[in-house]
Amino acid sequence: MKKICFFDTKPYDKTYFELLKKDFDINIEYFENKLGPKTAFMAKGYEAVIAFVSDTIDQETIDVLYQNGVRLIAMRCAGYNNVDFKAAFGKIHVVRVPAYSPYAVAEHAMALLLTLNRKIHKAYIRTRDFNFSLNGLVGFDLHGKTMGIIGTGKIGQIFIDICRGFGLKVIAYDPFPLKNTDIQYASLEELCKEADIISLHCPLTKDTFHLINQETIGLMKKEVYLINTSRGALINSEDLLEALKAEKIGGACLDVYEEETELFYEDMSYTIIQDDILARIMSMPNVIVTSHQAFLTKEALHNIAETTLSNCKEFFDDKILNNEVCYQCSRGEVCPREKNKRCF
Ligand code: NAI
Repeated sequence: MKKICFFDTKPYDKTYFELLKKDFDINIEYFENKLGPKTAFMAKGYEAVIAFVSDTIDQETIDVLYQNGVRLIAMRCAGYNNVDFKAAFGKIHVVRVPAYSPYAVAEHAMALLLTLNRKIHKAYIRTRDFNFSLNGLVGFDLHGKTMGIIGTGKIGQIFIDICRGFGLKVIAYDPFPLKNTDIQYASLEELCKEADIISLHCPLTKDTFHLINQETIGLMKKEVYLINTSRGALINSEDLLEALKAEKIGGACLDVYEEETELFYEDMSYTIIQDDILARIMSMPNVIVTSHQAFLTKEALHNIAETTLSNCKEFFDDKILNNEVCYQCSRGEVCPREKNKRCF
């Protein structure tokens, strides 16, 4: 039986991996530590490691993993912007879970919007204290408003369907628009100018880094709502803070934050938070933050475990690595995977 090791283990991950591992004839050693340059040595003796979006998989980490015999990094997530591909290329194969539940993320985006707009988080606290006042709880009808969607991939498309169910008019921006679709596309500039609510569903790349910044915010309507369930660094947090203080942005629903790595997924309630920008953003009454939990449904966790273990099994059985991602592929170069089963 093959043995792999698992970094940054949380109880909800373990439940589903333990349930499914026997189907793949794989044994798993769980570590609570995040994967990074200082912990990578723990993978000694394991050919494959399972990692997550919160791990630091930079050149140093990759070198230590490689020296210790690791040949596969199985990301148990879709996004892989935290992996230094260039460093991994030619040494360690990287696989991921391309989709596990786009519904989970799209539904969470709407949950955040409904919560913030209708002040459910405030009302919940109030009524538990027998405070039945409605002062300060005024929201707005979603019906008839314009939703601007940035990124019309798997999650974006599902979110569009959800929005239409609420009677929102939807416009979208994507540099690679879908063909044969009834989605109304606009330029980024038009979208910023027209939308009452903007929701981000694109990956973090060098082109999308700080896509939402002082300039793009400047184009937006006063009191626009912003939803980010994609990646924190799509938004320049300092510019967001300024726009919230200036009351240009009327509400921010954030499941991700650009400096989340050291904070999210952990209980920091007894820690003095050193990130003044996050602390100030979170102090706003019109901001709701969740801890990168948009993916967190039973269905998604089951699918993540199943695809990650299947990716590892393909590697051990010398089969084609269907979900491999690499430096070469990401640059659109010809990749030998179809012929040689692997990207290199
Ligand atoms: P996808 O790959 O199906 O779609 C991404 C879309 O973004 C594509 O249509 C692509 O053309 C578009 N895009 C690329 N560059 C763009 C740009 N410069 N501007 C606008 N659009 C651009 O990805 P999927 O599955 O819909 O996921 C979207 C993002 O959601 C992921 O990249 C990931 O960062 C995030 N995510 C967040 C989770 C969470 O728990 N909060 C869980 C899963 C994904």
